[in-house]
Amino acid sequence: MALILLASASGSPGVTTCAVGLALAWPRPVVLLEADPTGGSSVLAGYFQGWTQPNDAMVELVMASRANRLGEALPQLLEPLPGSTAARLLSGPRSHAQARSLMDIWEPLAFELKALDRGGQDVIVDAGRLGLTSWPTSLPRMADLSLLLLRADLPSLAAARQWAETWRSYGQAADSGQGHGLVLVGPNRPYGPNEITKVLGLPVLEKLSWDPPAAAVFSRGDRPGRRHRRRPLARDLGRLAEAIGRRLAESKDILTPPDPEEAP
Ligand SMILES: Nc1ncnc2c1ncn2[C@@H]1O[C@H](COP(=O)(O)OP(=O)(O)O)[C@@H](O)[C@H]1O
Ligand SMILES: [Mg+2]
Repeated sequence: MALILLASASGSPGVTTCAVGLALAWPRPVVLLEADPTGGSSVLAGYFQGWTQPNDAMVELVMASRANRLGEALPQLLEPLPGSTAARLLSGPRSHAQARSLMDIWEPLAFELKALDRGGQDVIVDAGRLGLTSWPTSLPRMADLSLLLLRADLPSLAAARQWAETWRSYGQAADSGQGHGLVLVGPNRPYGPNEITKVLGLPVLEKLSWDPPAAAVFSRGDRPGRRHRRRPLARDLGRLAEAIGRRLAESKDILTPPDPEEAP
């Protein structure tokens, strides 16, 4: 029941692409939560290719929360993510104007999502770009791991640099741990992970290869080719899922007090 938050500092580095790909590669049941205040579901318009109408989930959830039945309403609003038997989507704000009225829902929603299935359902949040009006500022505190996505060029690095301190503080303020870091999209174009870490003072958890055809499967709903699973991006997303799993296990070890029975 971990919550993993993905966001960007500037431009469009591939947060939604990564969120969809990661949900599909996730080894346990998972909910993909769209919390991008830009509005207009980029997953329904992209990966679903517009075949599914937005279900106004957020309005329903606000109403349910007012009636104290958020936990009851939530499961009915989750839609299966095609291509996975274990991933479901909770589509986010219909518009940027609607996002303004959702500021109070994110925290109770994240709480309910984490509690939804005690058997081990995780939550991946597509939080879009930092700094937008109505950005869900309460979510980083609820996150077990917050990952900032960026490309490896100078404009991306410059934008991320002025967010680095805030990003670090999100990790430190998190109720459940200290997880924060970077995911580099298109490494060595031209900067590598070491240079990025040196400038930003944040660890690069994983790199996602520059791979337009595989990215278009997740971002636009292109049909996967026969070798899609072996493509660099598909492979890297699997690695990212594993790296997140390891990081979460480490922070759990740090947070769990030693069992006195096992003391020497
Ligand atoms: N690893 C990648 N390699 C190549 N293109 C990518 C990669 N990740 C994302 N893209 C492309 O970048 C564009 C923006 O991606 P998107 O996920 O919508 O960004 P964001 O959610 O950060 O705005 C899309 O056209 C997507 O296919
Ligand atoms: Mg997006």
